[in-house]
Amino acid sequence: MYLDVPGGFSTQVAILEKPLAEYLPTSNWLLLGDMSVRLIWRSHNMPEPEVSNWVETSEAAKRMETLLPWLEHWAERNVHRNHTLVVVGGGVLSDMGGLAASLYMRGIAWHVWPTSLLAQIDAGIGGKTAVNLDSGKNLAGAFYHPQRMVVANSFLDSLSARHLKSGKWELIKMALIEGDIAWAESLLDCKIPSSSDMKHAIGLKIGIVNRDFKEHGERRLLNLGHTLGHAIESASNFDILHGEAVGLGILAACLLSKSCGVTAFPSGLIEKTAKQLAPLSSRIPVWEKCLPFLLRDKKNEAENNLHFIIPIPASRPIQQKISPEVLESAFAKLFFMVNSH
Ligand SMILES: NC(=O)c1ccc[n+]([C@@H]2O[C@H](COP(=O)([O-])OP(=O)(O)OC[C@H]3O[C@@H](n4cnc5c(N)ncnc54)[C@H](O)[C@@H]3O)[C@@H](O)[C@H]2O)c1
Repeated sequence: MYLDVPGGFSTQVAILEKPLAEYLPTSNWLLLGDMSVRLIWRSHNMPEPEVSNWVETSEAAKRMETLLPWLEHWAERNVHRNHTLVVVGGGVLSDMGGLAASLYMRGIAWHVWPTSLLAQIDAGIGGKTAVNLDSGKNLAGAFYHPQRMVVANSFLDSLSARHLKSGKWELIKMALIEGDIAWAESLLDCKIPSSSDMKHAIGLKIGIVNRDFKEHGERRLLNLGHTLGHAIESASNFDILHGEAVGLGILAACLLSKSCGVTAFPSGLIEKTAKQLAPLSSRIPVWEKCLPFLLRDKKNEAENNLHFIIPIPASRPIQQKISPEVLESAFAKLFFMVNSH
Protein backbone atom coordinates (compact mmCIF):
# COMPACT_ATOMS: atom_id res chain seq x y z
CA MET A 1 0.00 0.00 0.00
CA TYR A 2 1.15 3.49 -0.80
CA LEU A 3 0.97 6.32 1.73
CA ASP A 4 -1.56 9.04 1.36
CA VAL A 5 0.61 11.94 0.14
CA PRO A 6 -0.58 15.52 -0.35
CA GLY A 7 -2.05 16.40 -3.74
CA GLY A 8 0.60 17.53 -6.19
CA PHE A 9 3.37 15.44 -4.65
CA SER A 10 4.58 13.38 -7.57
CA THR A 11 6.31 10.48 -5.76
CA GLN A 12 4.40 7.39 -4.64
CA VAL A 13 5.67 6.38 -1.19
CA ALA A 14 5.50 2.92 0.37
CA ILE A 15 6.86 1.89 3.78
CA LEU A 16 7.39 -1.86 4.14
CA GLU A 17 8.90 -4.24 6.66
CA LYS A 18 11.05 -5.95 4.02
CA PRO A 19 11.62 -5.59 0.26
CA LEU A 20 8.78 -6.96 -1.89
CA ALA A 21 9.04 -7.54 -5.64
CA GLU A 22 5.50 -6.32 -6.29
CA TYR A 23 6.73 -2.74 -5.71
CA LEU A 24 9.14 -2.98 -8.66
CA PRO A 25 8.22 -1.95 -12.20
CA THR A 26 6.61 -4.81 -14.11
CA SER A 27 8.73 -4.35 -17.26
CA ASN A 28 11.42 -2.20 -18.91
CA TRP A 29 13.50 -1.48 -15.86
CA LEU A 30 17.16 -1.42 -14.96
CA LEU A 31 18.84 -1.56 -11.59
CA LEU A 32 21.62 0.48 -9.99
CA GLY A 33 22.45 -0.94 -6.60
CA ASP A 34 24.89 -0.34 -3.77
CA MET A 35 27.18 -3.37 -3.50
CA SER A 36 26.70 -3.35 0.31
CA VAL A 37 23.07 -4.44 -0.07
CA ARG A 38 23.36 -6.90 -2.96
CA LEU A 39 23.28 -9.96 -0.70
CA ILE A 40 20.30 -8.61 1.24
CA TRP A 41 18.46 -7.94 -2.03
CA ARG A 42 19.12 -11.49 -3.14
CA SER A 43 18.26 -12.98 0.25
CA HIS A 44 14.74 -11.62 -0.25
CA ASN A 45 14.56 -13.22 -3.70
CA MET A 46 14.28 -9.81 -5.28
CA PRO A 47 14.61 -9.89 -9.07
CA GLU A 48 17.47 -8.35 -11.03
CA PRO A 49 16.79 -7.15 -14.57
CA GLU A 50 19.11 -7.79 -17.51
CA VAL A 51 20.76 -4.40 -17.09
CA SER A 52 21.89 -4.41 -13.46
CA ASN A 53 24.90 -2.63 -11.99
CA TRP A 54 26.01 -3.23 -8.42
CA VAL A 55 28.56 -0.56 -7.55
CA GLU A 56 30.89 0.39 -4.69
CA THR A 57 29.94 3.81 -3.32
CA SER A 58 31.70 6.47 -1.30
CA GLU A 59 31.30 10.19 -0.70
CA ALA A 60 34.74 10.76 -2.28
CA ALA A 61 33.53 9.06 -5.49
CA LYS A 62 30.25 11.01 -5.59
CA ARG A 63 31.46 12.71 -8.73
CA MET A 64 30.49 13.20 -12.34
CA GLU A 65 33.27 10.92 -13.59
CA THR A 66 31.81 7.99 -11.60
CA LEU A 67 28.42 8.46 -13.20
CA LEU A 68 29.43 8.77 -16.87
CA PRO A 69 30.37 5.07 -17.39
CA TRP A 70 26.88 4.11 -16.14
CA LEU A 71 25.31 6.24 -18.87
CA GLU A 72 27.64 4.70 -21.49
CA HIS A 73 26.74 1.21 -20.27
CA TRP A 74 23.00 1.91 -20.50
CA ALA A 75 23.39 3.28 -24.03
CA GLU A 76 25.40 0.19 -25.08
CA ARG A 77 22.64 -2.01 -23.67
CA ASN A 78 19.93 -0.09 -25.56
CA VAL A 79 18.23 1.30 -22.48
CA HIS A 80 15.51 3.52 -23.85
CA ARG A 81 13.35 6.43 -22.79
CA ASN A 82 10.55 4.19 -21.62
CA HIS A 83 12.81 2.40 -19.11
CA THR A 84 12.66 3.03 -15.36
CA LEU A 85 15.84 3.13 -13.30
CA VAL A 86 15.54 1.54 -9.86
CA VAL A 87 18.19 2.82 -7.45
CA VAL A 88 18.84 0.70 -4.34
CA GLY A 89 21.27 2.23 -1.85
CA GLY A 90 22.17 4.96 0.61
CA GLY A 91 22.08 8.71 0.07
CA VAL A 92 25.26 8.77 -2.01
CA LEU A 93 23.82 6.39 -4.59
CA SER A 94 20.33 7.89 -4.57
CA ASP A 95 21.77 11.37 -5.20
CA MET A 96 23.94 10.04 -8.05
CA GLY A 97 21.41 7.62 -9.51
CA GLY A 98 18.72 10.30 -9.59
CA LEU A 99 21.09 12.66 -11.38
CA ALA A 100 22.01 9.92 -13.87
CA ALA A 101 18.28 9.31 -14.51
CA SER A 102 17.76 13.04 -15.13
CA LEU A 103 20.61 13.11 -17.65
CA TYR A 104 20.08 9.87 -19.57
CA MET A 105 18.16 10.66 -22.79
CA ARG A 106 17.21 13.99 -21.17
CA GLY A 107 15.42 12.16 -18.39
CA ILE A 108 14.06 8.68 -17.72
CA ALA A 109 11.76 7.65 -14.87
CA TRP A 110 13.38 6.48 -11.65
CA HIS A 111 12.41 4.78 -8.40
CA VAL A 112 14.40 4.89 -5.20
CA TRP A 113 14.74 2.13 -2.59
CA PRO A 114 16.73 3.91 0.15
CA THR A 115 18.73 1.49 2.30
CA SER A 116 20.41 3.69 4.95
CA LEU A 117 18.59 5.49 7.76
CA LEU A 118 19.67 8.85 6.37
CA ALA A 119 18.38 8.05 2.90
CA GLN A 120 15.10 6.59 4.19
CA ILE A 121 14.14 9.67 6.18
CA ASP A 122 15.79 12.37 4.08
CA ALA A 123 17.92 11.84 0.95
CA GLY A 124 15.43 9.57 -0.82
CA ILE A 125 12.64 12.13 -0.56
CA GLY A 126 12.30 15.34 -2.49
CA GLY A 127 14.10 14.92 -5.80
CA LYS A 128 17.35 16.70 -4.98
CA THR A 129 20.05 14.87 -6.94
CA ALA A 130 23.71 15.85 -7.17
CA VAL A 131 27.41 15.09 -7.31
CA ASN A 132 30.24 16.93 -5.59
CA LEU A 133 32.76 19.27 -7.25
CA ASP A 134 36.25 20.13 -5.98
CA SER A 135 34.83 23.40 -4.67
CA GLY A 136 32.19 21.77 -2.52
CA LYS A 137 29.36 19.35 -1.88
CA ASN A 138 26.45 18.75 -4.25
CA LEU A 139 27.43 21.66 -6.51
CA ALA A 140 26.29 19.94 -9.73
CA GLY A 141 22.80 18.49 -9.71
CA ALA A 142 19.16 18.68 -10.66
CA PHE A 143 15.75 18.74 -9.04
CA TYR A 144 14.30 15.49 -10.37
CA HIS A 145 11.61 13.63 -8.43
CA PRO A 146 11.61 9.82 -8.34
CA GLN A 147 8.25 8.39 -9.39
CA ARG A 148 8.31 6.02 -6.42
CA MET A 149 10.12 5.64 -3.10
CA VAL A 150 10.00 2.27 -1.36
CA VAL A 151 11.32 2.22 2.20
CA ALA A 152 11.97 -1.30 3.50
CA ASN A 153 12.85 -1.16 7.21
CA SER A 154 14.76 -4.45 7.25
CA PHE A 155 17.63 -2.90 5.24
CA LEU A 156 18.63 -1.11 8.43
CA ASP A 157 19.43 -4.42 10.17
CA SER A 158 22.79 -4.56 8.40
CA LEU A 159 23.67 -0.86 8.59
CA SER A 160 26.75 -0.10 10.74
CA ALA A 161 26.26 1.55 14.14
CA ARG A 162 28.25 4.57 12.93
CA HIS A 163 25.96 5.09 9.91
CA LEU A 164 22.86 4.61 12.08
CA LYS A 165 24.10 7.33 14.44
CA SER A 166 25.02 9.52 11.52
CA GLY A 167 21.53 9.21 9.99
CA LYS A 168 19.93 10.08 13.32
CA TRP A 169 21.20 13.67 13.06
CA GLU A 170 18.96 14.30 10.04
CA LEU A 171 16.02 13.09 12.15
CA ILE A 172 17.03 15.37 15.01
CA LYS A 173 17.19 18.17 12.42
CA MET A 174 13.53 17.47 11.52
CA ALA A 175 12.53 17.63 15.20
CA LEU A 176 14.29 21.01 15.57
CA ILE A 177 12.66 22.33 12.38
CA GLU A 178 9.34 21.48 14.00
CA GLY A 179 10.49 23.20 17.20
CA ASP A 180 9.79 19.91 18.97
CA ILE A 181 12.44 19.83 21.69
CA ALA A 182 10.93 16.79 23.43
CA TRP A 183 11.13 14.80 20.18
CA ALA A 184 14.73 15.96 19.61
CA GLU A 185 15.65 14.88 23.13
CA SER A 186 14.03 11.46 22.75
CA LEU A 187 15.89 10.94 19.47
CA LEU A 188 19.17 11.85 21.16
CA ASP A 189 18.41 9.20 23.80
CA CYS A 190 17.39 6.34 21.49
CA LYS A 191 19.68 3.88 19.71
CA ILE A 192 17.42 3.17 16.77
CA PRO A 193 14.51 5.46 15.92
CA SER A 194 11.08 3.87 16.04
CA SER A 195 9.01 3.31 12.91
CA SER A 196 6.66 6.06 14.08
CA ASP A 197 9.64 8.49 14.32
CA MET A 198 10.51 7.55 10.76
CA LYS A 199 6.99 7.84 9.41
CA HIS A 200 6.58 11.21 11.12
CA ALA A 201 9.85 12.55 9.65
CA ILE A 202 9.02 11.24 6.16
CA GLY A 203 5.60 12.92 6.31
CA LEU A 204 7.11 16.22 7.45
CA LYS A 205 9.69 16.23 4.68
CA ILE A 206 7.08 15.39 2.04
CA GLY A 207 4.96 18.30 3.26
CA ILE A 208 7.85 20.78 3.07
CA VAL A 209 9.00 19.60 -0.38
CA ASN A 210 5.45 19.68 -1.67
CA ARG A 211 5.02 23.29 -0.59
CA ASP A 212 8.42 24.46 -1.87
CA PHE A 213 10.00 22.01 -4.36
CA LYS A 214 12.65 24.40 -5.74
CA GLU A 215 13.78 25.67 -2.32
CA HIS A 216 12.73 29.30 -2.60
CA GLY A 217 11.60 29.58 1.03
CA GLU A 218 10.42 26.96 3.50
CA ARG A 219 12.57 24.14 2.07
CA ARG A 220 15.64 26.14 3.05
CA LEU A 221 14.85 25.16 6.64
CA LEU A 222 15.98 21.63 5.75
CA ASN A 223 19.47 23.08 5.45
CA LEU A 224 19.60 23.45 9.23
CA GLY A 225 23.09 22.29 10.22
CA HIS A 226 24.17 21.99 6.58
CA THR A 227 25.94 25.30 5.86
CA LEU A 228 28.67 24.55 8.38
CA GLY A 229 28.10 20.78 8.05
CA HIS A 230 28.96 20.68 4.34
CA ALA A 231 32.09 22.75 4.97
CA ILE A 232 33.24 20.46 7.81
CA GLU A 233 32.50 17.34 5.73
CA SER A 234 34.47 18.64 2.72
CA ALA A 235 37.34 20.08 4.79
CA SER A 236 37.71 16.73 6.59
CA ASN A 237 38.04 15.05 3.18
CA PHE A 238 34.90 13.07 4.04
CA ASP A 239 36.54 11.57 7.12
CA ILE A 240 33.49 12.97 8.94
CA LEU A 241 30.26 11.44 7.58
CA HIS A 242 27.49 13.61 6.19
CA GLY A 243 25.09 13.08 9.10
CA GLU A 244 27.89 13.58 11.66
CA ALA A 245 28.83 16.88 10.01
CA VAL A 246 25.16 17.91 10.11
CA GLY A 247 25.17 17.10 13.85
CA LEU A 248 28.15 19.44 14.35
CA GLY A 249 26.41 22.08 12.23
CA ILE A 250 23.25 21.74 14.34
CA LEU A 251 25.24 22.24 17.53
CA ALA A 252 26.84 25.40 16.11
CA ALA A 253 23.41 26.67 15.00
CA CYS A 254 21.97 26.07 18.50
CA LEU A 255 24.92 27.94 20.01
CA LEU A 256 24.25 30.84 17.64
CA SER A 257 20.66 31.32 18.76
CA LYS A 258 21.71 33.58 21.66
CA SER A 259 23.88 35.88 19.51
CA CYS A 260 21.03 36.12 16.96
CA GLY A 261 18.74 37.53 19.63
CA VAL A 262 16.37 34.53 19.83
CA THR A 263 15.62 32.27 22.80
CA ALA A 264 18.71 30.31 23.80
CA PHE A 265 18.59 26.52 23.79
CA PRO A 266 18.30 24.68 27.13
CA SER A 267 21.85 24.01 28.31
CA GLY A 268 20.97 20.35 29.08
CA LEU A 269 20.11 19.70 25.42
CA ILE A 270 23.26 21.46 24.21
CA GLU A 271 25.40 19.44 26.63
CA LYS A 272 23.80 16.17 25.55
CA THR A 273 24.34 17.04 21.88
CA ALA A 274 28.00 17.93 22.49
CA LYS A 275 28.53 14.69 24.40
CA GLN A 276 27.18 12.59 21.56
CA LEU A 277 29.45 14.39 19.10
CA ALA A 278 32.53 14.01 21.33
CA PRO A 279 33.86 10.90 19.51
CA LEU A 280 34.40 13.13 16.46
CA SER A 281 36.63 15.60 18.30
CA SER A 282 39.94 14.49 16.79
CA ARG A 283 38.50 14.51 13.26
CA ILE A 284 37.11 18.06 13.22
CA PRO A 285 39.14 20.20 10.79
CA VAL A 286 40.40 23.59 11.92
CA TRP A 287 38.31 26.68 11.14
CA GLU A 288 40.81 27.91 8.50
CA LYS A 289 40.18 24.74 6.46
CA CYS A 290 36.39 25.06 6.68
CA LEU A 291 36.15 28.76 5.82
CA PRO A 292 36.89 28.51 2.04
CA PHE A 293 34.12 25.90 1.66
CA LEU A 294 31.73 28.10 3.62
CA LEU A 295 32.41 31.09 1.40
CA ARG A 296 31.83 29.01 -1.75
CA ASP A 297 28.60 27.41 -0.48
CA LYS A 298 25.95 27.62 -3.20
CA LYS A 299 23.38 29.03 -0.78
CA ASN A 300 25.43 32.15 -0.09
CA GLU A 301 24.50 34.66 -2.73
CA ALA A 302 27.33 37.01 -1.86
CA GLU A 303 30.69 36.31 -0.25
CA ASN A 304 31.00 37.09 3.44
CA ASN A 305 27.27 36.69 3.84
CA LEU A 306 26.42 33.26 5.21
CA HIS A 307 22.83 32.11 4.91
CA PHE A 308 22.11 30.38 8.18
CA ILE A 309 19.16 28.53 9.69
CA ILE A 310 18.87 29.28 13.40
CA PRO A 311 16.72 26.86 15.42
CA ILE A 312 14.48 28.20 18.18
CA PRO A 313 13.23 26.04 21.05
CA ALA A 314 9.46 25.41 20.74
CA SER A 315 9.18 27.26 17.43
CA ARG A 316 10.22 26.92 13.78
CA PRO A 317 13.75 28.14 12.94
CA ILE A 318 14.48 31.54 11.45
CA GLN A 319 16.66 32.25 8.41
CA GLN A 320 19.37 34.82 8.97
CA LYS A 321 22.50 36.20 7.28
CA ILE A 322 25.47 36.03 9.60
CA SER A 323 29.07 37.09 9.25
CA PRO A 324 31.87 34.50 9.19
CA GLU A 325 33.28 36.17 12.34
CA VAL A 326 30.10 35.40 14.32
CA LEU A 327 30.15 31.82 13.03
CA GLU A 328 33.84 31.50 13.90
CA SER A 329 33.12 32.20 17.54
CA ALA A 330 30.31 29.57 17.58
CA PHE A 331 32.72 27.13 15.91
CA ALA A 332 35.34 27.80 18.59
CA LYS A 333 32.75 27.18 21.31
CA LEU A 334 31.60 23.98 19.59
CA PHE A 335 35.21 22.81 19.26
CA PHE A 336 35.80 23.44 22.96
CA MET A 337 32.57 21.72 24.06
CA VAL A 338 33.06 18.63 21.91
CA ASN A 339 36.68 18.31 23.07
CA SER A 340 35.87 18.65 26.74
CA HIS A 341 33.63 15.57 26.90
N1 LIG B 1 19.15 14.52 -1.79
C1 LIG B 1 18.92 14.92 -0.56
O1 LIG B 1 17.90 15.55 -0.26
C2 LIG B 1 19.91 14.57 0.52
C3 LIG B 1 19.59 14.79 1.87
C4 LIG B 1 20.50 14.41 2.84
C5 LIG B 1 21.71 13.84 2.48
N2 LIG B 1 21.99 13.65 1.16
C6 LIG B 1 23.26 13.00 0.76
O2 LIG B 1 23.25 11.68 1.27
C7 LIG B 1 24.62 11.24 1.38
C8 LIG B 1 24.81 10.47 2.67
O3 LIG B 1 23.96 9.35 2.63
P1 LIG B 1 24.23 8.05 3.52
O4 LIG B 1 24.51 8.46 4.91
O5 LIG B 1 23.15 7.11 3.23
O6 LIG B 1 25.63 7.53 2.97
P2 LIG B 1 26.01 6.33 2.00
O7 LIG B 1 25.15 6.27 0.81
O8 LIG B 1 27.48 6.45 1.80
O9 LIG B 1 25.69 5.04 2.87
C9 LIG B 1 26.43 4.83 4.04
C10 LIG B 1 27.27 3.54 3.99
O10 LIG B 1 26.42 2.44 4.29
C11 LIG B 1 26.42 1.48 3.21
N3 LIG B 1 25.07 1.00 3.21
C12 LIG B 1 23.95 1.58 2.71
N4 LIG B 1 22.86 0.86 3.04
C13 LIG B 1 23.31 -0.19 3.75
C14 LIG B 1 22.66 -1.29 4.39
N5 LIG B 1 21.34 -1.43 4.39
N6 LIG B 1 23.42 -2.20 5.02
C15 LIG B 1 24.76 -2.07 5.07
N7 LIG B 1 25.44 -1.05 4.51
C16 LIG B 1 24.70 -0.12 3.86
C17 LIG B 1 26.91 2.24 2.00
O11 LIG B 1 27.54 1.38 1.10
C18 LIG B 1 27.89 3.22 2.63
O12 LIG B 1 29.12 2.58 2.88
C19 LIG B 1 25.47 12.49 1.28
O13 LIG B 1 26.14 12.49 0.04
C20 LIG B 1 24.49 13.63 1.34
O14 LIG B 1 24.93 14.76 0.62
C21 LIG B 1 21.12 14.00 0.19
